[in-house]
Amino acid sequence: MKKLVVLSGAGISAESGIKTFRDNGGLWEEHRVEDVATPEAWIRDPELVLKFYNERRRQAMNVKPNRAHFVLAELEEHFDVSIITQNIDSLHELAGSSKVVHLHGELFKSRSTRDPDLVYPIEGWELKTGDLCAKGSQLRPHIVWFGEQVPMMTVATQITEEADIFVVIGTSLAVYPAAGLVYYVRNEAPIYLIDPVQPDITLSKKMKFIKEKATVGAEILFDELIKVA
Ligand code: APR
Repeated sequence: MKKLVVLSGAGISAESGIKTFRDNGGLWEEHRVEDVATPEAWIRDPELVLKFYNERRRQAMNVKPNRAHFVLAELEEHFDVSIITQNIDSLHELAGSSKVVHLHGELFKSRSTRDPDLVYPIEGWELKTGDLCAKGSQLRPHIVWFGEQVPMMTVATQITEEADIFVVIGTSLAVYPAAGLVYYVRNEAPIYLIDPVQPDITLSKKMKFIKEKATVGAEILFDELIKVA
């Protein structure tokens, strides 16, 4: 089976009702990254950071995967599919995708502030001051904040290098190192970009830009890939 690797971003979840970050009305217009999504913010005002992610979690509890998530799951019948997502929601898993790497962490998990190996599921939407890990330290959201290392980058790079086909869907490609993954795709492997707006990348011959929303673009991709499978 050919290896199909997908890099997804906030745009794939937009039609499920989750806001993107950099579009008009996006999350980073309402909140300053420096206030809620950096290690410094956590030190300065952990309550504000917890509140921000509690709100994200509360919203994410009520959303469902859309057609684009389901199409990527259905592609497993034809390809060995790996999903590398920058999203912290669980919509790829809920749609049935079996191999999902979360580059920027997971909204429904918490992590010890003392031992990064202590990761716990969050039941419900709220993570509070006083919620402690097994070693007695405060739990933080299991999110990769701006300025932090991206531990899953090594495995994501390996997966990308093995791709026979690479798909980029719903990401502005504005944030590194994730955006740099496209440069690890082998020369022979075609790259499909699905986005209503062209991401900030120079299109090369091996790239095919599908200028559509994720739900429509995913169906077009499916039809095109099944022809070559
Ligand atoms: N279908 C597909 N793409 C869409 C849709 C849609 N319905 N709606 C918007 N988009 C596209 C936008 O055109 C844009 O290219 O999704 C992209 C969203 O870009 P960003 O908001 O920058 O989100 P993303 O690329 O996932 O951000 C990367 O930045 O803030 C951090 O950690 C956060 O993981 C996030 C990272």
